[in-house]
Amino acid sequence: MRRIAVIGLGKAGLPIASVIADSGFNVSGVDIDKRKCDLINRGMNPIPDEQGLDGLIAKHGGKNLIAMAEYKDAGDCNFFIVIVPLFIDENHNPDFAILENAFRNVGKILKKGDCVVLETTIPPLTTETIVKGWLENESGLKFGEFYLAYSPERIMTGYSISRLKEFPKVIGGVDKRSGNIAYDVYKEFIPNLHLVSSSKVAEFIKVIEGCYRDVNIALANELFKITGELDIDFYEAREYANHQYCNIHLPSTGVGGHCIPFYPWFLIKEMERRAKYDHGNLLRTSREINDQMMNYWAERIVLECLRINKALGDVKICVKGITYREGIKELINSMNLALVKLLTEKGLNVYAYDELFIREEIEEMGLRFIEPGDADLVFDCFELVIK
Ligand SMILES: NC(=O)c1ccc[n+]([C@@H]2O[C@H](COP(=O)([O-])OP(=O)(O)OC[C@H]3O[C@@H](n4cnc5c(N)ncnc54)[C@H](O)[C@@H]3O)[C@@H](O)[C@H]2O)c1
Repeated sequence: MRRIAVIGLGKAGLPIASVIADSGFNVSGVDIDKRKCDLINRGMNPIPDEQGLDGLIAKHGGKNLIAMAEYKDAGDCNFFIVIVPLFIDENHNPDFAILENAFRNVGKILKKGDCVVLETTIPPLTTETIVKGWLENESGLKFGEFYLAYSPERIMTGYSISRLKEFPKVIGGVDKRSGNIAYDVYKEFIPNLHLVSSSKVAEFIKVIEGCYRDVNIALANELFKITGELDIDFYEAREYANHQYCNIHLPSTGVGGHCIPFYPWFLIKEMERRAKYDHGNLLRTSREINDQMMNYWAERIVLECLRINKALGDVKICVKGITYREGIKELINSMNLALVKLLTEKGLNVYAYDELFIREEIEEMGLRFIEPGDADLVFDCFELVIK
């Protein structure tokens, strides 16, 4: 039986580690965060708001899911799943530092016959080139003596457990043997699993999902601006335009979070490196359209303020909804939060409100809190309504 290690017990790693443990495996969870390991081993869930996770950690934490901060303590494992973050720098290039650290540490405990699967979203070809190299260097083994595959995480924060149980998941090996070995193990805990021909196809699948969303949100945003100009009801038009071959998305204040705004850059940058400048035009333009939506909304808000019988700087503006996505208490790359900051920089009298945050939390972020009812003008970031 495979002894499985999950490297990185974050929002993505901990749910899958728990699902694997719940399928009857002994799981070693490796995370550099000792406090998190300690909580898990006491049966306590360090990731709130994740449906079903409390119960799984209470059932398996410290029993057949043991968290550890040292890689060497997972040395008896023979199947490694790595899901640590990949950041993007200010020039939109991937920063591989965390991944490199994780894989070099796995390499140190890798043995002949072991299999490694990467789940972090990465630029296509990373697994078969960079990751393979790190593992070979550290382990002294040649690829073929160990196996390597890629399977993208396709969860949605808050619904990770049900996603892992229902949503289609793909897996592909650096070679055929790796793909088959990894598939056979994953099949034990992922019901809706599909083996694809290579790790690079599996990598590409995840990245293009993000690109599709970004481009189509940009299209919706552009059409929304055009309908505003032509005095047409966007939502009425969208309802009847959408059918089997047409799926116009919803407009927004831009695209936030840790996934969609970053993944198009993997392809844009790679095409630039290959001097294929015309291959990433649509992706780049879409990024720009989405990033500029906050300027569009700032302008609309200012125009509405001018209708109010007060000096512009006195109009109390409430930006309602500051998370990057409705209903999830996460601010990472939130365009709504960026809008608050943009309006503040313009010298407007801006306040924030979000039903997921109490006044103190809003104020700790350096923002001013207001109840929507006390404001002169409310911009609802999710409804896209100015009242
Ligand atoms: N969260 C999501 O909704 C989601 C969805 C799809 C894909 N992903 C993918 O999962 C990746 C991880 O995201 P996350 O949300 O779990 O991040 P996270 O920040 O919630 O968790 C990352 C964990 O990795 C640990 N860690 C960091 N460096 C480490 C190292 N060298 N060795 C061991 N552990 C280390 C951290 O302590 C942390 O617990 C993302 O980069 C993304 O590619 C996430």
